[in-house]
Amino acid sequence: MSNPSLLILPGDGIGPEVMAEVRKIITWMGDKRDLTFDVSEDLVGGCAYDKHGVPLHDDTMAHAQEVDAVLLGAVGGPKYDDLDFSVKPERGLLRLRKEMDLFSNLRPAQCFDALADFSSLKKDVVAGLDIVIVRELTSGVYFGEPRGIFKEGNERVGVNTQRYTESEIARVARSAFELARKRNNKVCSMEKANVMESGQLWRDVVTEIHAAEYSDVELSHMYADAGAMQLCRWPKQFDVIVTDNLFGDMLSDMAAMLTGSLGMLPSASLGVPMDNGRPKALYEPVHGSAPDIAGQGKANPIACILSFAMALRYSFDRGDEAERIEQAVETVLADGLRTADLLGEEGVTPVSTSEMGDAIVAALDASL
Ligand code: IPM
Ligand code: MG
Repeated sequence: MSNPSLLILPGDGIGPEVMAEVRKIITWMGDKRDLTFDVSEDLVGGCAYDKHGVPLHDDTMAHAQEVDAVLLGAVGGPKYDDLDFSVKPERGLLRLRKEMDLFSNLRPAQCFDALADFSSLKKDVVAGLDIVIVRELTSGVYFGEPRGIFKEGNERVGVNTQRYTESEIARVARSAFELARKRNNKVCSMEKANVMESGQLWRDVVTEIHAAEYSDVELSHMYADAGAMQLCRWPKQFDVIVTDNLFGDMLSDMAAMLTGSLGMLPSASLGVPMDNGRPKALYEPVHGSAPDIAGQGKANPIACILSFAMALRYSFDRGDEAERIEQAVETVLADGLRTADLLGEEGVTPVSTSEMGDAIVAALDASL
């Protein structure tokens, strides 16, 4: 049997730095756990634009469709701010999501014990937090037509369209309910049914799918603004949150800060199963390219490393090795190691990006 295949797209800014640390973990899995991947690497985002004039080359897109999983670092940077929308670095990522049809984006927010004091919220609000935001990723206002900046009389008007079909809502709702069944069996759906028709349809379809197929799961609904407030007030009331593309983007950044740092949060973007039964999948940290700290050894590689752990769990059926990585992260944090984003407490040891990666590898070794 051939090895499972991984396409690595480090991207821009801190992407390559954090991905270098993931490479160490991938190598370790091959050496110590006999879990070897065929790894290829390519460009996405600004670096792809610099080389090809587009943020994602057609060959890279085609390759992404064939591999068992894609691992992405981050895209974007101020250098590309003035580019036309059609070739902005972010378009490379959005094209991958859209063409691979990765409609279900899982964004877990888990507060590691060692970081409970570090969150900007009170310790008892976040300690032990373990929730997942399921964000719809291939539709909504990110992709709806019409879109653009148009001339109307003598002024310009910017247009984006929030659009959801029933089937788009139904499939992401199912994926949230399925996930909840493997966890604490609770889903909260968030939209703005009070002001948006697409939000009303969202609420209706989620309610229908629930009644027909998942009545064993506890379902609640919240307006997304109230949901944001509840996420700050008492996040532990949630288990799985399902929401649309734009609300999911915002709510997941907020949930990230509950855990101490955006540098901690991984994500999995899953599509429909391929011939081999594996879902099409792309794994990436929730954080961006952080151009302000790029190249300085300050970036936290944990979000990207935990994204690889999610790949082991969701694409390769190796939840055991995923847990080993999560445990190793827990260990190094408990030992007091902190990258720059996590500094500020007494008695911790500041480490660079690569020292953090090495420490996690050492903790993996110690787990054997
Ligand atoms: C995210 C990011 C992306 C998004 C950007 C980089 C296009 O913020 O994955 O949360 O808006 O979806
Ligand atoms: Mg975002």
